[in-house]
Formats: sequence, C-alpha cells, structure tokens
Amino acid sequence: MTATAYQQVTQALSQKPKTWLITGVAGFIGSNLLETLLLLDQKVVGLDNFATGFQHNLDEVQGLVSSEQWQNFTFIEGDIRKLTDCQSACAGVDYVLHQAALGSVPRSIADPINTNATNISGFLNMLIAARNAKVASFTYAASSSTYGDHPALPKVEENIGKPLSPYAVTKYVNELYADVFARTYGFHTIGLRYFNIFGKRQAPDGAYAAVIPKWTAAMIAGDVVYINGDGDTSRDFNFIENALQANILAATANDEAKDQVYNVAVGGRTTLNTLFTALKDNLSINGVSYNQAPIYRDFREGDVRHSQADISKIQNALGYAPQFEVIAGIKKAMPWYVNFLQNRLALDKLC
Ligand SMILES: NC(=O)c1ccc[n+]([C@@H]2O[C@H](COP(=O)([O-])OP(=O)(O)OC[C@H]3O[C@@H](n4cnc5c(N)ncnc54)[C@H](O)[C@@H]3O)[C@@H](O)[C@H]2O)c1
Repeated sequence: MTATAYQQVTQALSQKPKTWLITGVAGFIGSNLLETLLLLDQKVVGLDNFATGFQHNLDEVQGLVSSEQWQNFTFIEGDIRKLTDCQSACAGVDYVLHQAALGSVPRSIADPINTNATNISGFLNMLIAARNAKVASFTYAASSSTYGDHPALPKVEENIGKPLSPYAVTKYVNELYADVFARTYGFHTIGLRYFNIFGKRQAPDGAYAAVIPKWTAAMIAGDVVYINGDGDTSRDFNFIENALQANILAATANDEAKDQVYNVAVGGRTTLNTLFTALKDNLSINGVSYNQAPIYRDFREGDVRHSQADISKIQNALGYAPQFEVIAGIKKAMPWYVNFLQNRLALDKLC
C-alpha cells in the first residue's frame, strides 16, 4: 500500500526533526499541535499569553509525551501584540504555525477593539518577526467566516462574500496581509481556513464556547441545551486530527503550494439538530444519559446559515486526506469530554 502524503511527511520529520513555533500553544488547536509534534520528536517553541488558553492544556500534553520529548518544548509566556515577544519566539525556528487569536464571532461583536488588536496587529507582528527571522514556512489559522454572506455551497476558496462580524474582518485582513507580504517582501505563507474544528481540550466554558464542548458540558451537567434558531443551521464540523494533518502538510509544502489559502474541513454538512442527537447518543455510549429536549431560541447575530467546504484544493495541492468524518470524530472526542467534565463536576461538589 502506498503511504499517504501525511505518512510520508511525518516519517521524514521523525528522521530529521525540525524546530517549530506554535503561537496560541495553550489553546485548543495549539495544544493538540504541540502533542502531535512532540510525539514526532520535534523541537517546539510555544508562545501564549493565556488569554483563552490554559496551563492545564500544557500539563495534559506533558503527561502524554515522554520526559525526553517534553524537554524538546520551550514555553514563552508572551503576547503577539508585542513585536519583541514575537521576535524572541521566532529566533532559530524552521516552521511557524500561527494559531494565537481571539476567536468567536460574538466576542468580536462585544469587543471589536481587543479582537482587532490581537488578530490584526498581533498577526502583523508575527509576519514581520517571522520574515526577519527567515523561517522556512509560515502557516496561519484563517477562518471559514471569511465566506461571510456569499450564498454558494459548497464554499470554494476564490468566492467570498462580505464579512458578517468583526472577527470575520480580522481573519480576512490576515489573508490580505499575507498576500501583500508575498508581493512586497517575497515572504510566502499558507492560510488554513478552518471550518468548526472540534476535539479534546476545546474549552467548554463561557459565553464564547464552541457548540460541541458547550452542549456536551450542558448535557453532562444535566442542564438545558439551547439551540440558536430552528436547528437547521448547518456546519462542516471537522475533527481536530484532520486539522493537525493540514497544518503539518502546509508547513512542509513546497513553494508552488504557497501564497494560497485552503479550506480545512471534511466537506460534509451537519445540522444543529443532527449534532444534538449525535452528542446525546455518544454520551449514552459513555454511560451518561440525557433525556431533555433542546430549547430553541433566536438566531445568533453574525452567524452564517449554512457552511460546507469544497476541499478539493487542499486535497490536490497538499495531499490532505481527512481521516475522520464528523461522527467518527465525536466518538473519539467523547471519552475525553466525559472524563474531563465529570472530574470537574466532582471537584466542584467537593469545594
Ligand atoms: N476552533 C475553530 O473551530 C476555529 C475555526 C476557525 C478559525 N480558528 C482559529 O484557529 C486559531 C486557534 O483557535 P482555537 O480554537 O485553538 O482557540 P483557543 O482560544 O483555544 O486558542 C487560541 C490561543 O491563542 C492565545 N492567545 C490569544 N491572544 C493572544 C495574544 N495576544 N498573545 C499570545 N497568545 C494569545 C490564547 O491564550 C489561546 O491559548 C485561532 O486563530 C482561531 O481564530 C479556529
């Protein structure tokens, strides 16, 4: 059997380790990237200011790798809004995976100034620091929110509409800056337009939590689940391991694949109603029964109605081959959520 592009790349990396910088390393996607790269015996520098990331994510990764692999990790507590922090983090790095940002559409509507400062000024600082450090590649977290009000489905990279939120503006500006850095400085990047990534270590708390961890936490606590709108809103939910693959393929891609943005998704569409049932069923497989019906409320401001990616561009250019469909991903993620959330509930009861 021929090895996939991802298998070939990970084998080559294991034989010849590189130095990676992950910004936003204490967050959901960042900490999963850290785990994967350390398990491949890579050297990793991580930058985070703990705005929405957690020390417990780093501690968990430490417990999942060997002590020798953990020694390959250097953490810098710092802020991408400070150019000097970005410069320290980029020194001696081969590949940058820039994940740090303030996520969430509603957060950006409530606080556009802070979202702008981190997602645009911070992004620009990272571009400058990485360019000056002459890194070999720069891959950044773009977003499906850039499709905005464009009605076509599935979403094809070239056809975008008007942004529907300050967050979407910031992610689009990232793409514009990346493009201009290629034209003006010959600094070549890849943007990964993530479509609703989910999996272990995605934070379940707060007003800005993503739907899968938020509903799972509510179900485990026996609380009401609220569905914004009629439940027919749909998303191309993508399991974290597919996104990790996309990052590693992008970081190691050849020059012809650069100066581009790529959809990172499965290419499917799951409605919120279907998601509700899938989470409930998978909780029950893990010994948690939830019998309440959801409560429907108003649509959420700034949300697009349907989202589904065409993933042929990334398949053709990078050899991306998502290994997990949405239900397979939920099955894989659920034991972690049950364990994490039940432990936390037990601790809350003790306090
Ligand atoms: N999770 C998704 O479905 C999704 C979808 C589209 C795009 N994205 C993008 O992917 C990236 C990672 O998202 P995530 O889901 O892991 O979110 P996350 O909130 O878990 O991680 C973001 C990390 O960035 C850090 N950070 C924020 N501001 C910082 C600053 N000024 N300096 C240094 N670190 C800072 C946070 O502390 C956090 O650890 C973000 O750029 C996000 O916009 C995520």
